[in-house]
Amino acid sequence: MNVAVLLLLGLGLSEVEGRCFFNRTQEHCVCYNLSQESLGSIIQCLPASVVEFRGGELERYAAFPISGLDSSTIEMLDSLVIRKIIFGDLLVPEILLAQVLRFFSYTRVRELVFESCIFKGRGNWAEMTGQNLPILSLHFHNVTSAPLTGREQDLSSLSSWLETLQELAVTGSHVTSLPCGIGRVFRALRSLDVAQNSLGDERLMPAFCEGAFPQLQVLSLQRNNLTSYHSVCKSVQLLRELQHLDLSQNKLMADPSSSCQWPMALRIFNLSNTGLDEVLTPLPPGLEVLDMSCNHLHAVDISLTSLKKLFLSQNMLQAAPSIKNYTMLDTLHLGNNLITELPWDEVKLLRHLWHVDAAGNPYNCSCSGARGLQELAGMGHLGQGWPQGYTCHSPPRYQGRLVKDVPVSVLQCNSAAVIAPVCIALALLGMGGAIYLVRSRPGLVRPCRRV
Ligand SMILES: *[C@@H]1O[C@H](CO)[C@@H](O)[C@H](O)[C@H]1NC(C)=O
Ligand SMILES: *[C@@H]1O[C@H](CO)[C@@H](O)[C@H](O)[C@H]1NC(C)=O
Ligand SMILES: *[C@@H]1O[C@H](CO)[C@@H](O)[C@H](O)[C@H]1NC(C)=O
Ligand SMILES: *[C@@H]1O[C@H](CO)[C@@H](O)[C@H](O)[C@H]1NC(C)=O
Ligand SMILES: *[C@@H]1O[C@H](CO)[C@@H](O)[C@H](O)[C@H]1NC(C)=O
Repeated sequence: MNVAVLLLLGLGLSEVEGRCFFNRTQEHCVCYNLSQESLGSIIQCLPASVVEFRGGELERYAAFPISGLDSSTIEMLDSLVIRKIIFGDLLVPEILLAQVLRFFSYTRVRELVFESCIFKGRGNWAEMTGQNLPILSLHFHNVTSAPLTGREQDLSSLSSWLETLQELAVTGSHVTSLPCGIGRVFRALRSLDVAQNSLGDERLMPAFCEGAFPQLQVLSLQRNNLTSYHSVCKSVQLLRELQHLDLSQNKLMADPSSSCQWPMALRIFNLSNTGLDEVLTPLPPGLEVLDMSCNHLHAVDISLTSLKKLFLSQNMLQAAPSIKNYTMLDTLHLGNNLITELPWDEVKLLRHLWHVDAAGNPYNCSCSGARGLQELAGMGHLGQGWPQGYTCHSPPRYQGRLVKDVPVSVLQCNSAAVIAPVCIALALLGMGGAIYLVRSRPGLVRPCRRV
């Protein structure tokens, strides 16, 4: 059994003294700096569904002779419940990785994660030709490796596995380009996360060339080196299944004329923190979720009738956008803008609108403003920010007070509207009383008749 564990988890070996810790409630096992002496403690990781190896250097084991497995070992590997393996802070010789990966075909590991690892050298991947692995999700974060260009042969050896991969993340790893050929290998990929890299506008186009990532639904390009909205649109145009695109934390600029069509399937679009001072056009027409928070927008005038969630917090909006046509809207975030009054009569008409966050605005607490907010809060629509996040900036007598504390009774709010009917009522009452008196005691008004 030890041999099999060693083979399967061979990457955890290291010279520094270390051991494994198993958390039963989380089914999570972490091994730090495993050595040959402490290797036995891997045994306690066997019931875990997530196993994590942290620290160590594997170069010494690059020449480790790893050969075929006997049937009892294969049976044992098959019975393991491990679903996810994380390798962190490790130096990984690629040649060792190529040898060990083969044995994953006998396991049920679905997810493989490499964090802060350095891949060294080039592996011999030829033995992987035609091999299927159960791994569906592959994550690399902050890794260093030989460049991907010029490795078509390695990729084609791995292709029968990579063709079935569903999720790939390569984040924080200084990626500057994705050759066209790579995308064509990942035929079943649903989600690609290349956040926190250095992809620029020109390098994006080849990455999503004809035939690349044909099933891609989710793409994160968060925090890269993208500037042209138009060129991003052109680059992803061929991703027909794309539903979710994250461009947040790039520095996007408006292009003078942009006639590009976004993929029709696009539903979720993240333009948060992209330095926008105006809404870029065109927006994908079928959007359901639009995040344009953390920009410098002064006004928003969009018409996207299928919109369900609109995030506009931390902008410079002086008025809420007109939302009466967004009949599907269920979430509206307008916090930390310069809005003085919410269109609360529009808000109340939207049947699905349940989550409104509009804290941190300089509210005008004249009657209608304060009452609208209080009514929304009363209906349970204002989330956690209520009441402490909602303060009045005007009129002067309420400045600095919480909107919640502004008195909005009918009498105080609209004296003209109250006083006029009251006067009329009183007048009518008075007249009625007079007539009654005349009728019942006619003698009172009858001129005195002297007898
Ligand atoms: C296991 O994880 C849970 C949840 O994070 C934590 O509360 C608990 O203290 C951990 N148990 C051990 C033994 O570390
Ligand atoms: C990234 O990985 C390197 C080792 O390759 C490590 O020294 C560094 O601390 C890691 N950075 C972060 C932010 O985790
Ligand atoms: C980002 O793009 C700009 C202009 O396109 C370029 O000058 C710069 O070198 C790029 N930075 C990186 C890290 O690729
Ligand atoms: C958009 O991206 C930011 C990070 O840049 C994230 O905090 C936010 O939750 C994302 N918005 C949506 C709607 O997923
Ligand atoms: C506040 O609202 C009232 C009533 O709508 C209006 O008369 C007043 O000018 C507004 N004050 C400010 C500072 O916007």
